[in-house]
Amino acid sequence: MIATVGDALATTRSRLRAAGIEEGAIDARLLVEAATGLDRSGVLAARDHLLDANQAARLSQMVARRLNREPVARILGQREFWSLAFTLGPDTLDPRADSETLVAAALDHLPETYCRYRVLDLGTGTGCLLLALLAERPNAWGLGIDLAEGAAAVARANARALGLDDRACFLSGNWADAVEARFDAVVCNPPYVSDRERAALMPEVRDHDPALALFAGADGLDAYRALAGRIGPLLAQNGVAALEVGAGQAGAVSALMAAQGLETVETRSDLALIDRVLVLKPRNPGK
Ligand SMILES: C[S@@+](CC[C@H](N)C(=O)[O-])C[C@H]1O[C@@H](n2cnc3c(N)ncnc32)[C@H](O)[C@@H]1O
Repeated sequence: MIATVGDALATTRSRLRAAGIEEGAIDARLLVEAATGLDRSGVLAARDHLLDANQAARLSQMVARRLNREPVARILGQREFWSLAFTLGPDTLDPRADSETLVAAALDHLPETYCRYRVLDLGTGTGCLLLALLAERPNAWGLGIDLAEGAAAVARANARALGLDDRACFLSGNWADAVEARFDAVVCNPPYVSDRERAALMPEVRDHDPALALFAGADGLDAYRALAGRIGPLLAQNGVAALEVGAGQAGAVSALMAAQGLETVETRSDLALIDRVLVLKPRNPGK
């Protein structure tokens, strides 16, 4: 049945809410906007217009995907991060707002100068961390690495779309195994969900983010263990590392890093006041 834009909005909203989707009203608006090609004010202005058959079919497919608990950003294929648009792919994490804390922390340790900062992003996903940093520091350049080849390809496309591809390079590989250079900043948001937490994850995360981006062994610390001894040798003189950590992990990760000669010089909280980012420097620089 062909409905008006206003009816489509109301029906979508109530279907999503009935399915227990908390953000049903916002999601309904975003899906109707995407299906019709209208922006927010366009939808309001067109409330009494009929959806055409293509728009109705598009909306119906999108609503079915959302009812299957696929996040709106995955359905739209895009996520805004640090006010930049990032395309998502099946191999990329859907970037989280919490990770903007890492960008802010790293920038505070890379003051605005004419320095050609070298930045390494391990487990780059969409490339959001590295590309946000390069957008803020026009003289910086960087390398992003991800084990998932599909993620490196998406990050490359994001760099091109953002006009940052002349300063960013993306490769697939196991952490920094293939890297011999040193960097002014090493940033990393590794997988950190423990096996124990798997069952409690929202279906939006558990069923739609790639497992490689989420899970890190029995206690969620496997990736930090793999990285701990590798970060120091990657840092240039005065170099700094910024690591995202899961809720409640800051102490354990800080201890793992300390055992490898990296001192936590700052612990930064996210907007929910959860310790989210460790900023690390070598205890004995130059070694
Ligand atoms: C939590 S996601 C972070 C993605 C992105 N940096 C972000 O903040 O949105 C972790 C990323 O690490 C990648 N990864 C997992 N194990 C890896 C490994 N051994 N070497 C390199 N990348 C790895 C995953 O594919 C995933 O893209």
